[in-house]
Amino acid sequence: MKGRDIISAFDFAREDFMRLFNEAKICEKKRTLRIAEDKMAITVFLEPSTRTRLSFTAAMLKIGGKVMDFGGIEASALMKGESFEDTIRMIDGYDPDVIIIRHKVEGSAKMAADIAEHPVINGGDGMHEHPTQALTDLYTMYKTFGKIDGLRVALLGDLKHGRTLSSLSYALSMFNDVKLYCIAPPILQMRPEVVEKIKDKMPCKFYNSLEELDEEIDVLYVTRIQKERFTDLQEYERVKGSYIVSPTLLSKLKKIPIVMHPLPRVNEITTDVDAMPQAKYFEQATNGMYVRMALLAEVMGLKIPAE
Ligand code: NCD
Repeated sequence: MKGRDIISAFDFAREDFMRLFNEAKICEKKRTLRIAEDKMAITVFLEPSTRTRLSFTAAMLKIGGKVMDFGGIEASALMKGESFEDTIRMIDGYDPDVIIIRHKVEGSAKMAADIAEHPVINGGDGMHEHPTQALTDLYTMYKTFGKIDGLRVALLGDLKHGRTLSSLSYALSMFNDVKLYCIAPPILQMRPEVVEKIKDKMPCKFYNSLEELDEEIDVLYVTRIQKERFTDLQEYERVKGSYIVSPTLLSKLKKIPIVMHPLPRVNEITTDVDAMPQAKYFEQATNGMYVRMALLAEVMGLKIPAE
């Protein structure tokens, strides 16, 4: 994937996922590699982030590279009215080997990639996409089940505004016999343009609540309600707290699935789920670092040494 921009989950093919999983496994075993000693990444996170920013930083450091962080929006010239375009042009001029961007506006990662000569990785653009979270999610499923083909995956939460869900759905649609269950209060169901891109590749069923689900699932992927993306806060108040996953609720399902969440969690999974062997969300966050080690190496044209 040398020199490639990663803007959408569709920028990966099934073979890319499988290769990256194998490389991530090697990274996990070796813990650190010295393959990127002359490389520099610049992270530009113009929207709050904990895991994506830190896991990209940790991943770059663990393969031996360096990271320069743009810092918070409030400390930058963006506050003086500098445009996003000029900011990217300037960052690109520092000759980084890769630029990782998060921005609240949909399409901003693509815009940055069009301006920058160096590869751009999308760390989340508005409610649009978050391709490296999809990579993390699939790796977690692959580690748990040894495969992605044939999995039955339920998405629960704010499917309308959650960018991890669109990228995950696109990624799952590249595998065989995957079944998708979209569970959300009606006003938070998946956007039609997302459904449009997957519906011919993978069967999708829609539900208003987890209690309505009448089939066995392997994965329950929960997300928080994305309060910051609501234009009408009264609408947020109406749906807030409308689903809370607890051990009792899980025990009512036909089979207890693994529970995943991109994090941060607000209140949609009770903390007593954490001790269940099916709770995978903290492991998922750690996995994010290993897949990003593999991805950064590939984008920078570096080889992960075989085991
Ligand atoms: C997600 C995001 O930023 O889209 N977090 C993450 O990257 N792990 C999910 C969220 O903010 O709810």
